[in-house]
Order: sequence, then C-alpha cells, then structure tokens
Amino acid sequence: MHEFRLTQISDTHLSRADRFASLTANFHRVSEHIDAARPDLVVNSGDVSWDGPTNRGDMEFAKELHAALPVDCRYLPGNHDVGDNPTAVGDAPSHPANEKDRAAFVEVFGEDRWQFEAAGWRFIGLNSLIMNTGISSEIEQHEWLASQLSGANGKPVALFLHKPLFLNTPGDPEEASTAIRFVPQPVRAKLVEMLGAHDVRLVASGHVHQRRDFTYRHTRHVWSPSAGFIIPDRIQEVIGTKEVGLVEYRFQPDAFEVRFVKAPGQTDVDLDSLIGLK
Ligand SMILES: [Fe+2]
Ligand SMILES: [Fe+2]
Repeated sequence: MHEFRLTQISDTHLSRADRFASLTANFHRVSEHIDAARPDLVVNSGDVSWDGPTNRGDMEFAKELHAALPVDCRYLPGNHDVGDNPTAVGDAPSHPANEKDRAAFVEVFGEDRWQFEAAGWRFIGLNSLIMNTGISSEIEQHEWLASQLSGANGKPVALFLHKPLFLNTPGDPEEASTAIRFVPQPVRAKLVEMLGAHDVRLVASGHVHQRRDFTYRHTRHVWSPSAGFIIPDRIQEVIGTKEVGLVEYRFQPDAFEVRFVKAPGQTDVDLDSLIGLK
C-alpha cells in the first residue's frame, strides 16, 4: 500500500440519554463525512463515551454508532471511558483508572493498545490513563511499548494516545495539576525519553477539546478537536483552537500530511448546553 488514509476522531462523548442528542447529531455528521471520504481506518482517540465507568450503556451505544461506519475503527480509552491518571503530587482523581474499568472498555471496544503497519509506517496506540496507576496493565504496556518501538526496524512511528504529552516542551507544564490535561509526571519524562530514542514523527492525541498542530524537535504533535463539543473559557483556558471537527491524515513512505476538517453540519456544541447551564 503506497498511501494510507487515516481519520482521527476524538472526544465523541456519546450517550443514549436525550440531553446528549446534540452529540449524537454531531457524530452522524462526522459519519456522513467519513462515508463520503472512505479513509482506510478511523481511530477514536478516547472519551468515546459520555461516562463509561458509571454507565456501560454509553460505551455500548458508542460502539453501535461506530460499528455502523463503512470503515474499520480502532479505539483508545479516555478518562471518561476508564477513569483518570493518579499524579505523584496533588489530589487523587475522583475515579482513578483501574483494571475493572479497563476490562469493561476492552470487552466493548477491543484492545486498549494496538500496533499495525501501513504505507511504510508503524502505528502504535496507547492507553494513557493507566499511566502512573501502578496496576499490572501499566507495567505490561510499558514493556510492550519498548518492544514495539524497537521492532519498528527503521520505519517511522506514529503514536496515538488520549492525553497530549505536554504543552510546548517535555517539562511544560511542571505543576501537579498537569495530570488533568497532559500525561502526568513522573511517567511523562520516562515516556518522552523512551520515544526520543526512536524515530517517532507523530504524536496524535485528543482530550483537550481544542485543536492544535506544532512540532517539537522532529516530532509533530497533533491535538485532535473534539467531534462533539467545546469547553467554555470560564472552565478551560485557550491553548489551541476551540472548534469541533476531526483530523485527516495521509501517510506515505517517509512522509505524511495533516488536515483539520469540520464535517458539513457539525456544530460547536457548548458544554454548558449539555450540563443544563444554557
Ligand atoms: Fe473529552
Ligand atoms: Fe479526556
């Protein structure tokens, strides 16, 4: 295969409940766009469901909608699917990621980490929420990642995960609250060091609900927008562009292109309208 076309969607936050109908509508607009564009693969980089740990039905509903797409899909968990990362400093998250919720995600969506090759690239997907938990799947994933990176055999690597690694540089930001938005310390430093020893050209993430595209050293960092909704400035500072959409990639041996797209009819649903403030 000379060219591999991948569409990344993220933060769909799907639920069958009536008050989330606007998110389902946005997913249908994204589906229509995917049906017309027919990429080789769709990757949902997490927060597939509104709240998987308290309502497995949200994950099952999300799976049904993805299964109706005319394209193969791969999934990665988000904090709203399996719980969140503990951090070395500061308060524990209200619902830390754990083996039970990870297993529920795997039952509904399939593996929470994966690897495949296409168009001369090695693609790796990681579960970023188990990082810093110390649970056995975190240790297994770390060892698995080391072997997947060394097994790339000179192929460039494209990495997908829910949380971005960092804001602008690996040490940025440093404070305890980073676990909310980025891969938390201390695991981030280890991961960045490990990735830096290999030819990782792309790190594609979701989670922030703001799109962004920047390059640090020789790695391009692409933050997918949410396919579902944006978060008001009152709750979240602006660090990218607050607009819903999706990302289209074209991979060719030794090269790739990135394009942010808003599907026709996709609307910038505001979080306030979902939690009853507007
Ligand atoms: Fe999200
Ligand atoms: Fe998230």
